[in-house]
Amino acid sequence: MVNITINGQQISAHAGMTILKAAKQAGIDIPTLCEHPALNSVGACRMCLVEIQGQRNLQTACTFPITEGMDIQTESPRVVSARKLILDLLFSERNHYCMICEMSGDCELQNLGYRYGLDHWLYQTYTKSFPLDASHKYYLMDHNRCVLCGRCIRACGDKVANHTLGLRLRGADTMVHADGHIPLKDSTCISCGSCVQVCPTGALVDKRSAFMGRNIQTEHIVSTCGQCSIGCGMTIVTRGGNVLRIDSDWNAEVNGGLLCKYGRFEPLYNERQRIETPMIRAEKGLEPASWEEAIKTVAEHMGGVKEKDLGILTSTNATNEALYLVDQLFRQELKAGNVGILNDCVPRPFDKASGTLADIEGSDLILLVGVDPAKDQPVASYPVKRAIDKGVRLIVVDDKDNGLTPFATMSLSMSDIKKGVDIAERAEHPVIAYGTGITEAAVNALKKISKKASFIAIEPGFNTYAAVAYGLNNGFKPSSAKFLYILIGEQNWTDDELLKKIPKSAFVVVQASFKSPLTDRADVALPMATWSEREGSLTNTEGRLLKLSKAVEPRGEAKPDWEVLSLLAYKMGKKLGSSLKEISSRANKQFK
Ligand code: SF4
Ligand code: SF4
Ligand code: SF4
Ligand code: FES
Repeated sequence: MVNITINGQQISAHAGMTILKAAKQAGIDIPTLCEHPALNSVGACRMCLVEIQGQRNLQTACTFPITEGMDIQTESPRVVSARKLILDLLFSERNHYCMICEMSGDCELQNLGYRYGLDHWLYQTYTKSFPLDASHKYYLMDHNRCVLCGRCIRACGDKVANHTLGLRLRGADTMVHADGHIPLKDSTCISCGSCVQVCPTGALVDKRSAFMGRNIQTEHIVSTCGQCSIGCGMTIVTRGGNVLRIDSDWNAEVNGGLLCKYGRFEPLYNERQRIETPMIRAEKGLEPASWEEAIKTVAEHMGGVKEKDLGILTSTNATNEALYLVDQLFRQELKAGNVGILNDCVPRPFDKASGTLADIEGSDLILLVGVDPAKDQPVASYPVKRAIDKGVRLIVVDDKDNGLTPFATMSLSMSDIKKGVDIAERAEHPVIAYGTGITEAAVNALKKISKKASFIAIEPGFNTYAAVAYGLNNGFKPSSAKFLYILIGEQNWTDDELLKKIPKSAFVVVQASFKSPLTDRADVALPMATWSEREGSLTNTEGRLLKLSKAVEPRGEAKPDWEVLSLLAYKMGKKLGSSLKEISSRANKQFK
């Protein structure tokens, strides 16, 4: 620890910490622009300049480390005058006409203008018009608003390790470019949206939520992404009961605030038709019914079915609470044997070495076996690519095309895995990330390094870890079910072959958020709340228990997945818990 003085206040902080961090810790606010807590500091904008006794020049607080006895002034007349000059220069370049900017009210540059009393332009402005790239599906880049802080470039390069963005040209002509100046839609951008979220001005703008509400008018609900088994932390931004956009949760341990297009953008571009009321099949097709009628109809049909004729199929896109109730009601109480989940699951034979995604960056060799995170769980591919940037070798073992093969030192077929295992054996901290593409022979080959390596099982689906823990992956046979309960939730139904195998005489109940060929076949359809409308918990592929929060009310009469099952259990006379709290505490006993 060292002792320093900031604005006359005595502070004790860790030696080497930046002035900015030490000041923040002591509650002293130093203005910044290029600095972002999730990114490396580069000292580009000079907005955080401070005066240090004994130093001839003003120094950037975001990069300058503290040492014993330092005496710092953060708002001296010299500092304020330097900051005003920088702001005057920034406002004089490009078009910062706030009145018509989407970010007005939330813009860090505008806030600084107010803070330092910039009530007019000191220098001539709007001398040149810069282009606007609106080619990307999800966001646009208006170079007229750019202050060249480089945050977007650092997010894309250092965090997502995608390196799409960079700078081109020089001086006042400098512009952020994608892949050497091509339209964003044609670039290598993987639509993670990190650049949009870190941009301090209206230069990078989310298209869907633009002009829909300022920060002060919106609510921010911290939750977990439900689109794959990684379970990334996210923030759902709402206004007036509608979801505007999905932002990062920079505090989330799993993903450190990074998201992918499946988590950040695609849930908001879903145009499938919702089911908003319970429905029961009548002569002319499905007819709306009350919850009471629908649950009664399901319970009556289910009550008379023999154990062997009862079939249950569930999507892993369900909460722990719902999956627990599926297990308790159908398997434990009604003794159904024909129970299955909609996706495969990975074998977990390496129980002594259960790694986490955080192990990837500490490794010196990554063996990727039968899994393609770049395609299916993109956030899990970011630490792999960051490690490659630092010189870590990647060996991809896969019989299919793999999105990370272009980054690999070596690419092997599954039958050649022994070559990869031999190389991993010579590494100090090998990490093996594997998925459902792994073969039994590959599992056996990897056992050779099971004491040395860290193994990360990457499940397909969403809450597969919990579904397997509850014993729901028993292998489902549609042909032998006379009563079939399918919890499809909001998952896309793509398996028409399975649909054909369901006997015509079977009574089919579908718990779903959206209309599909499956709900067309249903005798009873029960409307389910979607990701932003439900609360509960899930367990990610690492076995971490994560919280889901409700951000908006369910559409129509839809109910959360667990509540539908709890109503049914109650109707069947089974006491499995009636409140979310009660069901959660039972469901999550076995998870951390
Ligand atoms: S969206 Fe992601 S990948 Fe695309 S440019 Fe921005 S940070 Fe890079
Ligand atoms: S686009 Fe935004 S984040 Fe990127 S350099 Fe310009 S102002 Fe900074
Ligand atoms: S990696 Fe998975 S959990 Fe994370 S944002 Fe993407 S879809 Fe959501
Ligand atoms: S915030 Fe320190 S130089 Fe930009």
